Amino acid sequence: MSHVPVLLKEVIEILNPKKGEFFVDGTLGAGGHAEEILKKISPGGTLLGIDWDPGILEETKKRFEGLDLGSKKIFVEGNYADLPRMLLGNHLPKADGMILDLGFSSWHIESSGRGFSFGKDEPLDMRYNSRGGLTAYETVNGFGEKILADIIYQYGEERDSRRIAKAIVAARREKKIRTAKELANVIDTVFGGKRGATSNATKTFQALRIYVNGELENLKTILRELPEVLKIGGRVGIITFHSLEDRIVKNAFKMLQKNGQGKILNKKIIKPEREEVLGNPKSRSAKLRAIQIM
Ligand SMILES: C[S@@+](CC[C@H](N)C(=O)[O-])C[C@H]1O[C@@H](n2cnc3c(N)ncnc32)[C@H](O)[C@@H]1O
Repeated sequence: MSHVPVLLKEVIEILNPKKGEFFVDGTLGAGGHAEEILKKISPGGTLLGIDWDPGILEETKKRFEGLDLGSKKIFVEGNYADLPRMLLGNHLPKADGMILDLGFSSWHIESSGRGFSFGKDEPLDMRYNSRGGLTAYETVNGFGEKILADIIYQYGEERDSRRIAKAIVAARREKKIRTAKELANVIDTVFGGKRGATSNATKTFQALRIYVNGELENLKTILRELPEVLKIGGRVGIITFHSLEDRIVKNAFKMLQKNGQGKILNKKIIKPEREEVLGNPKSRSAKLRAIQIM
């Protein structure tokens, strides 16, 4: 399993994990950030690694079993928005630090088989956790045209959302849209060719993923909970990949600072350096913000 951690050097620098500290990685993924944090808090530290996706969590947990650095490692399958309950359930105190690296991982595209990638003939699911919630298939084949257009516009910032929703509804009248590739093909018919540098389906796929996983709601929930889950002096870093998420983080951090509950640690927004983007093009839209709880 490969996932090159984004902004790794910058995350470690700004969160400054120290020996013996307790850190949470709320979006463990392949564990790239967690591994570096574990090295810094060891020995004597505690790492709580959370991922909503049981598939990726299991693989990373196995990998970490071989990493004995003299710290405690706890792995929990769940939504980071439930962190207050997870801390209680695992008899853990408030944390010294937390990283959230939002969204999906390369593993979801390459190995999940759940239709995250528009090039693949995989069933349209797109949930991180299949224990509950609507699938992308149910959304695409079951929702009315106006609601679909609203989802695609709101969560994908797709200007052509109405035309795309119309094409989806027309196509599914003939035959249900079952796979990611089928959906991408329907979207292509709207444009009759490639629109720009990215695939015609990029924004619609982003919208569906955000919608079925409630990604923006999860983010807003954890942001409200920060003073509850971090010690005074605790540091949080959040990496976002699109403007919808970044706006939410920016406003919440500003509000915490205004209320005297936090101090923003990044003077300027932190973005990957040119070399990182060249080596890992997926990092190009990443932005890091960090705050210290007061
Ligand atoms: C960008 S990846 C993290 C990559 C990781 N930092 C690394 O270095 O490998 C995001 C991960 O967060 C998980 N995820 C998404 N939403 C989540 C949520 N609400 N709660 C917990 N995990 C979530 C996804 O399953 C995915 O594995």
